[in-house]
Amino acid sequence: MENERITSASISPGELRQETTLRPKTLADYIGQKKVKDNLSIFIQAAKLRHDPLDHVLFYGPPGLGKTTLAGIIANELGVDIKITSGPAIERAGDLAAILTNLNENDVLFIDEIHRLNRSVEEVLYSAMEDYALDIIIGKGPSARSIRLDLSRFTLIGATTRAGSLSAPLRDRFGVMSKFEMYTTDELAQIISRSAQIIGVEADEESIAEMAKRSRGTPRVANRILKRIRDFSQVQGSGRITVEITREGLAALDIDEMGLERLDREILLAIIERFGGGPVGIDTIAASIGEERVTIEEAYEPYLLQIGFLSRTPKGRMVTPLAYRHLGLEAPEQESK
Ligand SMILES: Nc1ncnc2c1ncn2[C@@H]1O[C@H](COP(=O)(O)OP(=O)(O)OP(=O)(O)O)[C@@H](O)[C@H]1O
Ligand SMILES: [Mg+2]
Repeated sequence: MENERITSASISPGELRQETTLRPKTLADYIGQKKVKDNLSIFIQAAKLRHDPLDHVLFYGPPGLGKTTLAGIIANELGVDIKITSGPAIERAGDLAAILTNLNENDVLFIDEIHRLNRSVEEVLYSAMEDYALDIIIGKGPSARSIRLDLSRFTLIGATTRAGSLSAPLRDRFGVMSKFEMYTTDELAQIISRSAQIIGVEADEESIAEMAKRSRGTPRVANRILKRIRDFSQVQGSGRITVEITREGLAALDIDEMGLERLDREILLAIIERFGGGPVGIDTIAASIGEERVTIEEAYEPYLLQIGFLSRTPKGRMVTPLAYRHLGLEAPEQESK
C-alpha cells in the first residue's frame, strides 16, 4: 500500500496530527529552500509595510518538501488567518464562493493540489484573484443577469506537484512562483536533529547523518525514518539512537544506502532487464511493473533523476551507469552517436 511505504513522500492520515507538531512556525525555523525563503521574506515585509495583501503565490515541486508548512508560516509572518483546502475538495463553484466570502482582509487561502480544481471552480478564481470580486449569475435564460460581489483582498497560495498541469490563465494570475528543490543531506540533518529534540529522542551526529543521507531529499521522509529508528532504539537498544541501530533499522526497513527502496530498484531493474537500460517511455515502465504512471512520475522519478540514476531523453527514460554500479551490475558499453 502506497501510504505505508516508509519512503513515501505522501502523507497518511494518522501522521497528519503528529506532523503538525514537527512543523516549523516561523521563517527562521524553516530550514533550506533558501531562494524561495529569501524572496518571500522580502515580499512579506513589503506587503506588511504597505498594509497590502501579499501577491498570490504558487508553490510547485515534489511532495513532502514543505509547501504546506511554508504556507502556514507565511500566514503566521503576515499575522493573518489561513484557510486550508484542496483542489479536489472544492466540488462546485458555490463551495469556493462560500470560502472566499468568509475571508477577512489580507487573509491567506491555501489550495493544495490546485491542478485538480475543476473547470467551473477555476473560472470563479480568475476574477477573485484579479479583482477580488465574484461574478455571480442570477436567474436563468433571457432574464439571467450577472452581479459582481466584492471580496476582501486576500492572498491565494496554491500548491501543486505538477506545475505543467495548471492552465495558462490560472498560472498567469500568480505574482510569485516558487519552485521547491530537494533538500541537501546537510539540511535534512538539521531537520532531523530539530525533530529529534521535539519528539524527545537522543541521536548522535553520525546516526543523524546516516538518516539524512537516506531520506531522498525529503523532510517528510526524514521525519518518518527518525520515528521508525526511534522505535528500533527503544525496543532493541537503550532508547538512544546509535549508528548501529540506525543501520540495522534501515536495513530492516529495506532502505538502502542511497535511500532507495523496493520499488525504486524495481523501476531501475525493469528498465535494465526488459528494455536494455532504455530509453523507454514512462507508460511502458509503468505497465511493466504494474504501477500507476503518476505514482512513478511524482513519487519515484524525481529522486532518481536528482541523484543521477535516471536520465530523461526525448525518447524516454534511461538508466545511467551510476545506477548500474549502485545495483552491482555492469553498465553496457556507451553507444557512440
Ligand atoms: N524546511 C523545513 N524545515 C523543517 N521541517 C520541514 C521543512 N519542510 C518540511 N518539513 C517537515 O516535513 C513535513 C512535510 O512537510 P509539508 O507537509 O509541508 O510538505 P508538502 O510539500 O506540503 O507535501 P505535500 O505535497 O505532500 O502536501 C512537515 O511535517 C514538516 O515537519
Ligand atoms: Mg502539503
